[in-house]
Amino acid sequence: MCGVVAVLGRENASKLVIEGLKKLEYRGYDSAGIASIFQGSLQTIKSEGKLIKLIDKLENLSSDKSYFDTSIALGHTRWATHGNISVENAHPLISENKVAVVHNGIIENYLALKEQLIAEGYSFQSKTDTEVLPHLFSKYLKLGNNLLEAGRLVLNEIKGAFAFVAVSTDFPDQLFISRNSSPLAIGLGEDGNFVGSDAHSIDHLTKRIIYLEDGDHGLVETKNIQIFDKNTNKVDRKIINIQAEFGLITKAGYSHFMEKEIFEQPSVIPQTISNYLKEDSKIIIDIDKLGFEKKGSLVICAAGTSYYAAMVGKYWIEQIANIPVIIDLASEFRYRNPSIYGQNSILVISQSGESLDTLMALRHGKTLGLKTNAIVNVEGSTIDREADYSLYTKVGPEVGVASTKSFTSQLSVLFMIALALGKKFNEMNLQEINEKTQYLNMLPTAIARMLEIEEEIKLIANKIKNAKNMIFLGRGLLYPLALEGALKLKEISYIHAEGFAAGEMKHGPIALIEDDVPVIMFLVSDGNEDKSISNLQEAHSRGANTILISDKKCIEKADFAHLKLEIPEFESGFKSLLSPLLMSIPAQLLAYHVAKERGTDVDQPRNLAKSVTVE
Ligand code: G6P
Repeated sequence: MCGVVAVLGRENASKLVIEGLKKLEYRGYDSAGIASIFQGSLQTIKSEGKLIKLIDKLENLSSDKSYFDTSIALGHTRWATHGNISVENAHPLISENKVAVVHNGIIENYLALKEQLIAEGYSFQSKTDTEVLPHLFSKYLKLGNNLLEAGRLVLNEIKGAFAFVAVSTDFPDQLFISRNSSPLAIGLGEDGNFVGSDAHSIDHLTKRIIYLEDGDHGLVETKNIQIFDKNTNKVDRKIINIQAEFGLITKAGYSHFMEKEIFEQPSVIPQTISNYLKEDSKIIIDIDKLGFEKKGSLVICAAGTSYYAAMVGKYWIEQIANIPVIIDLASEFRYRNPSIYGQNSILVISQSGESLDTLMALRHGKTLGLKTNAIVNVEGSTIDREADYSLYTKVGPEVGVASTKSFTSQLSVLFMIALALGKKFNEMNLQEINEKTQYLNMLPTAIARMLEIEEEIKLIANKIKNAKNMIFLGRGLLYPLALEGALKLKEISYIHAEGFAAGEMKHGPIALIEDDVPVIMFLVSDGNEDKSISNLQEAHSRGANTILISDKKCIEKADFAHLKLEIPEFESGFKSLLSPLLMSIPAQLLAYHVAKERGTDVDQPRNLAKSVTVE
């Protein structure tokens, strides 16, 4: 999703902006651009596609010092919302060769503003909603306002969720900044100041960061920063010292970040677990802070893969703690007037901590009077800062757009929440809870053993890579995994895939079965396996190419399946309760190898963004 970087007061500002944009590449984008001011005139350069194309264009201009000999520059990676992917629609958007704006979010009332500006004589070069911003700045600057005053007048006119930075050649040492729902951070330097969509994009320049709050706007100068809240009161926002610089995260010898992140799981999941599980098997999660001073119910909201984690969480919390859980897609919760009868709190789950749908669900929960909790990976993200209580997954930066280690770490935290709630509210005896708590210690080795089946998965991937459609099936705790397996595959291989509850196949989806459609079932022997095997048999009888990923016992029972992938043996209670965590591994590896065989852009699949900051 769109990324914004601006540098003020440092030599070679354009180059420093490009370094920042490189760090935002993982978020997903389809064009990029940069603007700088040299001797009072604006230089802009933009390109479609990946950043490397912009860098190549800049390198061809390396003898033209007007692009580089500058101490003010702003840059952008665009994920198209309004207007196709093109150089014209790439940011920065310019007005009268004097004002440049980079923007993340959507100006919802742009059509009315555009009509009005056209009537006033402004001509539009792009199909974007953003272009109204530089023209509005031009309009108000021409009336004699300074940059701050003009920016305030612009803010009075626009509606939507946004974060933007504006510059004008009339004020060549100032940046106007504003934030409403979309994230924006300011970096404080010794000899300059910086702006970025996240702290990571400017951590090569400074470790001292201020996160703007919603409704904030301000003026950044080389030696001075002024921030105002939505009522134009001057405010001091907290300066946070971010820890280590992540630097340019490398693939460490793997072909893709996604592959690296899959294989990191045995070493990062212990970080997640040890954050909350102490040596004496005690889980340090504050149940009262979670909103459970007394028994009630919980609503969990999330998007994408994090939503499937929420589904598994519901199954665990209901099963282990006997606490009712409602789950909702974050994008639905806010708009459907949900009843919160009997609910104590809302828990949102987000790797990035910036998904706008999820943030809005959290805020909606707050307005409904619920306590707000979050499971996040990015500490300091907006969701982390706004939640009453945050639980961290601690798996380090996830670069691949398709979530892998974040999913398994979210599941690990949810499992610990279920155990902690179970300890307090379920009559389940302590011994049983302690036994289940020990499963957490077994998990990293079990994940490492699951990774050993990669070679067999490659063989399956090779056999199904040309399929046009695929179906994933699972029952109980493995139903969310069927959904996640299908999502993972479609995200990175572009093959149409759907997941269904195994028992639901016969109620409609079975009509999709035709010869050779791969039907992939995740299954473990848990006492209900025969029912799922019958469901697979039903697809098999109708010509499907049936693929069973399961343990020895089930594979023997379902000998008919065309392809069988046997997972390692584990203790039976552990295997069935933690099956979603175990089966995440073949789900991820299968999607990865199918995509690799098809030659897609695994880490930055088309049209997707890592951090989705629009609704
Ligand atoms: C995007 C990504 C998904 C991700 C979802 C939620 O759509 O493409 O892979 O699961 O956002 O992201 P979050 O950061 O909120 O977990």
